[in-house]
Amino acid sequence: MKTDNIKKFTYGTPYSTGAVVKEIPVSEGTPDRFTYDKETETFSAPLKKADNIYGLGETVRGINKRGWLYISNNSDNPHHEETTNSLYASQNFLLVDDGRECYGIFIDNPGRVEFDLGYTDPDKMSISIPDNDTSFYVIEGESPVDVVRSFRQLIGKSYVPPVWAFGYGQSRWGYKCADDIRTVEEKYRELGIPLDMIYMDIDYMQDFKDFTVNPERFPDFENFVSEMKSKGIRLIPIIDAGVRIEKGYDVYEEGVEKGYFCKKENGDNLVAAVWPGKVHFPDFLNSAAREWFGDKYKVLTDIGIEGFWNDMNEPAIFYTEDHLNEVFAELKDYENKELDIWGFFQFTDLLMSISNNPEDYRRFFHDFDGVKVRHDKVHNLYGFYMTRSAGEAFRRNVPDKDILMFSRASYTGMHRYGGVWTGDNISWWSHLLLNIHQMPSLSMTGFIYSGADIGGFGGNTTEDLMMRWIEFGIFTPLFRNHAALGTREQELYQFKRTDDFKNLIELRYALIPYIRDSFMKAVNEDSMYMKPLSFEYREDERCREIEDQLLVGDSIMVAPVYEQNKTGRNVYLPEKMKMIRFRSFSDYDEEVLEKGDHYIKAELNEVLVFIRPGKELPLAKPARHVDEIDIENLVVLY
Ligand code: GLC
Repeated sequence: MKTDNIKKFTYGTPYSTGAVVKEIPVSEGTPDRFTYDKETETFSAPLKKADNIYGLGETVRGINKRGWLYISNNSDNPHHEETTNSLYASQNFLLVDDGRECYGIFIDNPGRVEFDLGYTDPDKMSISIPDNDTSFYVIEGESPVDVVRSFRQLIGKSYVPPVWAFGYGQSRWGYKCADDIRTVEEKYRELGIPLDMIYMDIDYMQDFKDFTVNPERFPDFENFVSEMKSKGIRLIPIIDAGVRIEKGYDVYEEGVEKGYFCKKENGDNLVAAVWPGKVHFPDFLNSAAREWFGDKYKVLTDIGIEGFWNDMNEPAIFYTEDHLNEVFAELKDYENKELDIWGFFQFTDLLMSISNNPEDYRRFFHDFDGVKVRHDKVHNLYGFYMTRSAGEAFRRNVPDKDILMFSRASYTGMHRYGGVWTGDNISWWSHLLLNIHQMPSLSMTGFIYSGADIGGFGGNTTEDLMMRWIEFGIFTPLFRNHAALGTREQELYQFKRTDDFKNLIELRYALIPYIRDSFMKAVNEDSMYMKPLSFEYREDERCREIEDQLLVGDSIMVAPVYEQNKTGRNVYLPEKMKMIRFRSFSDYDEEVLEKGDHYIKAELNEVLVFIRPGKELPLAKPARHVDEIDIENLVVLY
């Protein structure tokens, strides 16, 4: 691997975050193109009119990130919208490209980093790092693809899930018992809709305790796991970061005894509250604690579980005991008081400050392998290290099996241990578009096994939103329909047009050989599974503004419909391509279209795929489960 195109600059005493896998010698001076203001701890670089800025992985807004303030500070925000600054993940990689020349930067700092990308001053990019113990990498390259390859070689190979994890998964918060899950399997089977995974949300646990199963609602769980497996379904349980405080619960008792939980300044374990009620947070930054927690997954892998999703690992905090006490004390002042308008706002602010309070993230510490570190300084590592704990344990305890693993919170480096889902989105058309925008940025930063909650997590979905979202989800490596408790049920059998859903899911299964090959290529060659058009068609100015068409692998371009009541859309073709309008894997029309603008019809059940000249799109005959797909006999479209 060549590294002479990568320069590393350091400030303060950078943490060994585990983000990079290659040693780069430290250069003197300031990162090329940047000035550094020590007082404000801010790096700045001018932006040319033509500069597009790509990267940052999972964030709000477009593929071109220019024009907004993004803050790396992993946050549980189920109501995120355009003006949100922080989401569940932090990937501090940016690529600046004027169409001819480009460069990348990677800020390896696990605390808060603020990327002002032409927000304050449209012609300037500023990166502020309040705790500047940072490694700052500058990556030069001929093209965006080149810069991405170098960055990915720097951070190491992406996680590869088991092959069946490319199938379709059904999830819902609220499957309360084994029979609820049996019903899901039965209904999908009755309709002949392919399905490989059913996810188990916190409902399966005993009082929301990690690594426990409620024995009344899931009697003989081990048998249930094999029963479902005999029907071709893998059960994928959730694991949460917080460990319930309960006398006699082994994970709690052991964690306390061994000192593996995060502590406050005075040495007491931090008491926070999440789904289980009061919890302690395992200190995943401590390697002994990490090993201990990782080994706990064995309770479930020993009985045949082959996949997990790690949740609430920003970590999300509903409240801490200490802060809640402070709030109650302050509330006394408000009792029997006339509140003027300012007083009223102070009062509501006080109540709103209870969850995910920045002060709370400063109340506890890690034993980062011998060094006491305040949490906020390494905040963005927490989800990464939880997932690392699981990933390392799987290699240790289940070396012969690939285990499915993806997480909600992440930081660069976690991509070697698992994938991500993009957290709690909402059944909004704008969040379908957001999913389209997030995918190439995630691919860029090594999070290739990724996807969103299809249909939307919060809010009530509609049949047409679900169908259009599935039509895009067909191409995302993680393909999971998930929804929140209390929302409209959105398993595909809940809708009217089940035949159309069946055709679409079958199309996904027909595409799995192509999807999996493209995925493996992206992993092995440190390239991108999903790309913006501008990365490939460098000479074509138009492509620099296209944000709703993506290249998937080397052969195809997709152009999803993402607006309600639309039966077609405009598509720009950067070269002559063959359009396939799929209704199912075997029912489609083809048309060769010239370079340029086209309005293309796509009825609600139709998916548009464009095959690039000289390229091929193989299709398999779909099967009910991924491992039944005959990958030898493929129909090849070109
Ligand atoms: C969080 C997760 C969501 C899950 C819920 C209950 O909100 O992001 O996916 O369903 O917790 O566990």
